[in-house]
Amino acid sequence: MKVSSLKSVFIALIGLVFLISCGKDDTPQDVIVMDDTPFILEHGALPAPSLPSDNQLTIQGVKLGRMLFYEKLLSRDGSQACADCHRQQDGFSDTSRFSIGVELMPGKRQAMPVFNMAWHTNEFFWDGRAHLLRDQALKPIQDPLEMNETLPNVIAKLSNSQQYKDQFIRTFGSSEITPEKMALAMEQFMLSIVSNDSKFDRFLAGEIQLTESEERGRLLFSTEYNPFFPEISGADCQHCHGGANFENDKYMNNGIDAEADIVDIGRQKVTENPADRAKFKVPSLRNIAVTAPYMHDGRFKTLEEVVDHYNADIRESSTVDPALLNTKQTGLLLSQQDKQDLVNFLKTLTDDTFLNNEEYKSPF
Ligand code: HEC
Ligand code: HEC
Repeated sequence: MKVSSLKSVFIALIGLVFLISCGKDDTPQDVIVMDDTPFILEHGALPAPSLPSDNQLTIQGVKLGRMLFYEKLLSRDGSQACADCHRQQDGFSDTSRFSIGVELMPGKRQAMPVFNMAWHTNEFFWDGRAHLLRDQALKPIQDPLEMNETLPNVIAKLSNSQQYKDQFIRTFGSSEITPEKMALAMEQFMLSIVSNDSKFDRFLAGEIQLTESEERGRLLFSTEYNPFFPEISGADCQHCHGGANFENDKYMNNGIDAEADIVDIGRQKVTENPADRAKFKVPSLRNIAVTAPYMHDGRFKTLEEVVDHYNADIRESSTVDPALLNTKQTGLLLSQQDKQDLVNFLKTLTDDTFLNNEEYKSPF
């Protein structure tokens, strides 16, 4: 009798334990596990990008990168995230001529827009000093003129957060936070930012028409310069701002400074080759109407000023591109109307879908 009642208590207990553990299994949020579901990069009509094979995009990795991109703990005093200098409504660039870092000190260059990074295959920054996007991602954190923080400090701060520890597990299978993992996650988020739905894209897809002025601007943009036939001579912007992203992945000198006025030697500082003096990355012209001011030092406030530069103000130096030097004799001979047409065409490259995309907004 005694033994069997003990037995039934024992069985009841086992049943209870079983029930409790079953209940636990039904609430998977208690168990954080790695989830490597791939992130599919929708590129629409853009050519397929070449994504890094050693950092395949996953939904969780892109999410972690997005958290870090908007994380103010990455800066020394907790006041600044990447997204403070790379604002979505400004095409992930900055409207200040020189971005202000945490020490309230201005940097030396204009913030670059961050989108369609998956199509940049020739290094990062105006001078290309970061080989891969993942190399780039850790530099602003440690730059005294930007976030001015050390990597060990950032890791200590993030390691205090259960939210981050969990997201590192979901992404990498372990809660250990390292600079390498942070860089890979930020690379994933930045690669996921795509702009391919501008008015011009819709025109290419045959969905809409350009206005007469925009269409004239489009022809000026893509037609070669020929001073002997001013009637059919174009502005030949496409010479450098070509292809689906209106850039050529090269470093060039577009004649904004005469030899004696060059203060920033650009690409030469990286390669130490005098032939690279004052050369800068040819930037994409997508979303150009919302990424003012312009050039590596933000010297031009408006697109009209940029067009005036190319039309009649090319300055001579040892490395200025021959195609631009060639226009110096006469200038591009653009009329007031031509200039307006060119600017109107550039405005068709603005992509409101990208500028308002919820997927790129702060996750907090
Ligand atoms: C204080 C402002 C500031 C902050 C904060 C900042 N950036 Fe930047 N970013 C810039 C400037 C300025 C440049 C151009 C620098 C240069 O070329 O020397 C730049 C360039 C870049 C580029 C190069 C794009 C290209 O086409 O080559 C990327 C990518 C980028 N930043 C991502 C980030 C990330 C990720 C963070 C956060 C970890 C960050 N930035 C934080 C100002 C900032
Ligand atoms: C020889 C190559 C070349 C040609 C031709 C050229 N560009 Fe550029 N463009 C560049 C380079 C290089 C830069 C960046 C220079 C810098 O920052 O110092 C640039 C910068 C720009 C910028 C500023 C981008 C930004 O994000 O700040 C605009 C706008 C622009 N070009 C428009 C045009 C237009 C319009 C034409 C035709 C009238 C044109 N470009 C012709 C090479 C060229």
